[in-house]
Amino acid sequence: MKQVLETTVRKIGDKEFNKLSRFIEQEVGIKLPPVKRTLLESRLQKRLKTLQIPDFGQYCDLVFTTDEGALEIVEMIDAITTNKTDFMRESAHFEFMVHTALPELTKSRRELNLWSAACSSGQEPYNMAMFVEEFIEKAGMVNYNVAATDISKSSLEKARRAVYDMKDIDIVSNGFKKKYFLKSRDAKKTEVRIKADLRKKVYFRPINLMKDDYGLNKKFDIVFCRNVLIYFNKENQADVIRRIVSHMNSGGYLFLGHSESLAGMRKNLVSVGTSVYRKE
Ligand SMILES: C[S@@+](CC[C@H](N)C(=O)[O-])C[C@H]1O[C@@H](n2cnc3c(N)ncnc32)[C@H](O)[C@@H]1O
Repeated sequence: MKQVLETTVRKIGDKEFNKLSRFIEQEVGIKLPPVKRTLLESRLQKRLKTLQIPDFGQYCDLVFTTDEGALEIVEMIDAITTNKTDFMRESAHFEFMVHTALPELTKSRRELNLWSAACSSGQEPYNMAMFVEEFIEKAGMVNYNVAATDISKSSLEKARRAVYDMKDIDIVSNGFKKKYFLKSRDAKKTEVRIKADLRKKVYFRPINLMKDDYGLNKKFDIVFCRNVLIYFNKENQADVIRRIVSHMNSGGYLFLGHSESLAGMRKNLVSVGTSVYRKE
């Protein structure tokens, strides 16, 4: 039986697809229209295999009708989120941060709060910290830290470990490699780790951007919320932006992914660069 379960591809029925896709959009924000049916089916195959569950009907029963459902939802969210990220992704934003946002913000204060609001496995918030460090070298001391949040449990675990494959940092300059990454003592290992001093600047929390209360007790000066809104419908995008902006200081900067924009939901934000906005 086990053998059969491991090799069988389970098909998702209409009823189960509708139930799961509606729930996921409500809970996580991720749109799953009918064209995404195969995607949902394939992303959840591994869960069914791991749990030795023979079909999506029984999977729905587990998720929606049992006490263990809440635990499975965490795993399901992990399976359906797209966590692709890279060091130096959309690097023009880091340049903007160093040459425009940080000089402007530090005219009036030397304490800054940064936030990577869908941080995936950590490359983005560590990168933000590296560029603040670069700014500090030239412009003098600034106290700062970076909040890094995501809904995906396994991504946050990886982010906290801060261990990456060497090929992930091919794109990083040699200067940054030397300053911010530690090679493994074991020469056979192709891993690097973010150095402890930089790790200390970044703290991780699970936050679901779809929830009304993010449980954050501070306001931020720089927020990166990149490559997550594309998965949401317009209404949810607007709600997330409204909530994020309410957690920003006036004069703070919001960075979206290059393919994302605030069309029609600008609130009190002015466009100051490619997918960069400033709170008025
Ligand atoms: C494609 S990654 C983007 C990572 C990074 N910001 C970047 O641009 O490289 C999208 C991330 O959004 C997270 N995500 C999706 N829905 C979310 C939600 N409702 N709340 C918080 N994070 C969410 C996913 O877990 C994933 O790690």
